[in-house]
Parts: sequence; structure tokens; C-alpha cells
Amino acid sequence: MTGDPMHAPFANEPTLELRRAAVRARLADSLATLERELPISVPVRVGGDTRAGNDLSSTDPGDPERLVAHAAVASESDVDAAVRRATAGYRSWHASGAAARASALLGAAAWLRERRLELAALEVRECAKPWPEADADVCEAIDFLEYYARGAIELERGRKLLQVPGERNELRYVPRGVVAVIAPWNFPLAIACGMTAGALATGNAVVLKPAEQSPGCAEKLVQALLAGGVPAGVISLVPGEGEVGAALVRHRDVNAIAFTGSLPVGLEIMRAAVEPAPGQRHLKPVIAELGGKNCVIVAADADLDEAIPEILGSAFAFAGQKCSAASRVLVHEAIAEHLLDRLAGAVTVLDVGQADQLGTDVPPVIDREAQERVARYARLAERQGRIVAQAEPVPDRGWFCAPIVATDLAEDSEVLGEEIFGPLLAVQRVRDVERACDLVDELPFALTGGLFARDPGTVRYVRDRTPVGNLYVNRGITGAMVGRQPFGGNRLSGTGLKAGGPDYLLQFVQQRAVSENTMRHGLVV
Ligand SMILES: NC(=O)c1ccc[n+]([C@@H]2O[C@H](COP(=O)([O-])OP(=O)(O)OC[C@H]3O[C@@H](n4cnc5c(N)ncnc54)[C@H](O)[C@@H]3O)[C@@H](O)[C@H]2O)c1
Repeated sequence: MTGDPMHAPFANEPTLELRRAAVRARLADSLATLERELPISVPVRVGGDTRAGNDLSSTDPGDPERLVAHAAVASESDVDAAVRRATAGYRSWHASGAAARASALLGAAAWLRERRLELAALEVRECAKPWPEADADVCEAIDFLEYYARGAIELERGRKLLQVPGERNELRYVPRGVVAVIAPWNFPLAIACGMTAGALATGNAVVLKPAEQSPGCAEKLVQALLAGGVPAGVISLVPGEGEVGAALVRHRDVNAIAFTGSLPVGLEIMRAAVEPAPGQRHLKPVIAELGGKNCVIVAADADLDEAIPEILGSAFAFAGQKCSAASRVLVHEAIAEHLLDRLAGAVTVLDVGQADQLGTDVPPVIDREAQERVARYARLAERQGRIVAQAEPVPDRGWFCAPIVATDLAEDSEVLGEEIFGPLLAVQRVRDVERACDLVDELPFALTGGLFARDPGTVRYVRDRTPVGNLYVNRGITGAMVGRQPFGGNRLSGTGLKAGGPDYLLQFVQQRAVSENTMRHGLVV
């Protein structure tokens, strides 16, 4: 191995050891430093040009009076200019070769690593991500850069084909061109970074439309990429709400769309992308990572000492706002009462509080709309079933929701079928694991799933039957690690090859097979 980081095998960025007082003191310092800089100004970035503005603001979900960032909103002509710059820029970026591109991505990873505390503090403020989650999100962003940088070098080597005398055959991977990246707020650095890094590593140019709730984090990502050596011509930033994303999707010269977000928006994007714009000479593939309704099966022989804390963390950490979060437990009727009892006890003592407090279990949800949505499902749960436990009181300032466990819901209840994306967990009794698998199979979503069981036969049975993209056995169902748990859903949960996995980059390239007759007759002079 040489000193060149590219020659070191990929390893996950270690998260902080938050039990150490010295580390906690550094977090407090980083938050104080960040607060002196707020609000962050987020411009529209088109190539190297920037235009500041304050048409859009992000605020602290725990204290909506606190302004975190103000952003300029990209107009249709900004979007057009960004796509044109990207079209002009991607060929030379591709021609620079995978090693040069990888080196820029590793530069960006180094930039993020140097500022990881400040960036985690920004996530605490902009998205109310509690410290452990905010730190893990920064690490995951670094991981994506490091992982895809290496993956693109490997992809550039091409694949081996059958060769016969007199013929040379090559399979090459070439970029698609301009990739529109449309990101959600819930992993404000990591997901925007993962999609962007995948596209850039393979030689595409990116126009990034971040979520309206987290423009500040997206601005830091673009700063990292530029500082790492990604040319300004291949990364543009177009902040704004959904219509900015829609303008990007419609644009004739966008070659592919990488989207992570909700199912309804994903479907809207796919519908728009399928229709070629006047003069468009290509199809626009949509790489979509969508929502979930994630179930945890608890078999009769499960170890509840293990299951209860893991279910609790999967359902309520970050207020249930991870696409992978547990939202339904299917428990064997023989142990259902016992599990409900223990879950109820544990939920009532959850600490609902501000994201900057290390003792907080459940922070506020992202905005008023999310708070109202969760409240609506809570009312439905009360009407169509029974609330078993609720953590109260919750702070009245900020977008807090009381974590809830509900049960005895009618089988057709929306609470059992729809993505709530908040701290509400439904528990359902089942007669056996087979029935639990049938219920999972009936769902249109298939993102993550869990199983707690001791019998290896049960583990094999569920593993073979489940439709989900990520199954976790005897552990929590969130926290996929790049390179270890390639992540993504099936059915209505997504189209994409798994993020953080060995095949992800294939979505950002086209294949070109070149076959040459090498039986030459004479020489070119
Ligand atoms: N499968 C995964 O890997 C994964 C990961 C994270 C989040 N999610 C899902 O994301 C959702 C939460 O994120 P969200 O609230 O930001 O999602 P969202 O769908 O509301 O928004 C996502 C992005 O799409 C943009 N957008 C909205 N309307 C648009 C339109 N018509 N055209 C183009 N862009 C448009 C938004 O401005 C935002 O940038 C949940 O459903 C969650 O499950 C999935």
C-alpha cells in the first residue's frame, strides 16, 4: 500500500465517541461557533457564478424563530443556465479520467472531515438532527465520496469480454451527461452527497436541487466539492421548492434524474420524465429512492431484551423521520401482551426534547406540515384502534410530536398501510411468522424490514420470503453503512440499484461496446 489514499481500501468514517466529555465539549463549541455565523447565505450557483437572495429561509424545527439559512430561489432561466453549463462542462470532466475525478471527490471528503463538527452542528440546527444522527450523516457523506471515487476507477477499467483471433472487443462505461439531483431534507448532507458523488465520479455534470428545508447543508456540500477540485462548470446549485425541481426534470438537456423523496413526488417526476421535450433526443432514466412502510416481525422465541431497545431506536430516533424507520411491529400473539407492556413502559419515558441536548431521544419533526400530518395519523389511530402509550409532555415551542404506540387497529386502517414519517409505531398481533410475512407481502412498499427470532429456520424462512430491499435480523432496522449494507427499496419504494453498494454507479453510465476487426491488410502511412 502507498501513502496515496486512493490505494487504501475503503473503510467507513468512524463516528464520534459521544460518551467522552472532551468530545461533547467540542460539540458545544462547534454549535456556538456556528451560531455566530447564522444565518448562512445560500446563493444560486450556476457554474462559477453566484446570485445571492433571501427568497427562501430554513429555520430551526426546535425553535422556528431561529433563522438558519436564507437562500436565493432559482428561476426557470437559472435552471436553464445551469443545465447549459453542465452540458458544456461534462465532456472535459469525463475526459480528465476516473482517477482525477476521484481525487477531487476525496478532496471534498477531506474538506468535510476537517469541518465535521461544524457540519453536524448545522444539521442539528437546520433539521433538528440529534448529535449522534447528525454526526453519522456527515460520516455517511464522507463515505459516499470515498466509496464512489474508488468504484468509478474500477468501472473505468471496463468488463472483460470474450476475445477471438482477429477481433478486439471492449465494453466501456460512459457518462450519461447532465444529471439532475433532487434531494430530501432528512439526510441533508449524506443523500444529496451520495447521488451527486455517484454522478460526478462517473463523469457526469450535476445540477443539484436541494430540499427547501435544508439549503444550508446543500451549500456546504457544494463548497466541499469545489474546494476538493470539482470544476465549477460541473456542479451547479439551484435552491427552491418543488417547482424548481420540476423545471429541472422538464429540461430538454437533462439526461438522467436522481431523486430521493416521497412516492407521490417520485411518481410525478417519472411521469414528467417519460415525455420527451421538443427537440429531446434521449430517454431520461429516473433513479428513484422512495418511501417505506417498514415492519418488524417479532417471533415467539425472540429475545425481548434485545428486541425492545432496537425497535424503540428504529421507530423513534430522529422522530421516526428516516425512510428506513420502523413503523409497524408484527408480533406473535403468544408474546404480544408482554411486548406491548414493555414497549409502552419504554415509550412513556422517552425524552422528547431539543436536538442539541445529548439526552434527547426524540427531537421535533421538520416543520408544521409534518407535525400536522403526524397529529392526523394519531387521531386516526385513536379512532380506529387504541393508543397504548404516549410520551408526554412535549415542549410546546417547536414542531414536537408525542411518540405514540398504537394497537388493535383495523386491518384496513391507513395507520397500518401508509407512510407516516413520524414517531408513531403500530403494533399488530399475528398468529405466526407466516401470517406476518403475508402481511408484509401485501404492502406496496418494500424498503426495510426486521426480524427478531432465535430459530435459524425462522430466519431462513423470512429471508427467503420477504420482498424488502434491506432485511435486518436481530438488530435495529436503520443505520445502513456504505459498503456494508447497500441500501434501497423494491416495489413502490424505489427503482434504483442500492446506494452505497457495488452496482450503484451503473445507473449513471451508458454502456458502449466497441468491436474492432484487427486483421489489418496493409499499413496506414
Ligand atoms: N428510499 C430512500 O433511500 C429514502 C431516503 C430518504 C428519504 N426518503 C423518503 O423521502 C421522503 C421525505 O423527504 P421529503 O419530505 O424531502 O420528500 P419530498 O418528496 O417532499 O421532496 C423531495 C424533493 O423533491 C422536491 N420536489 C417536490 N415536488 C417536486 C416536483 N413536482 N418535481 C420535482 N421535485 C419536486 C422537493 O423540493 C425536495 O427537494 C419520505 O417519503 C422518505 O421515505 C427515501
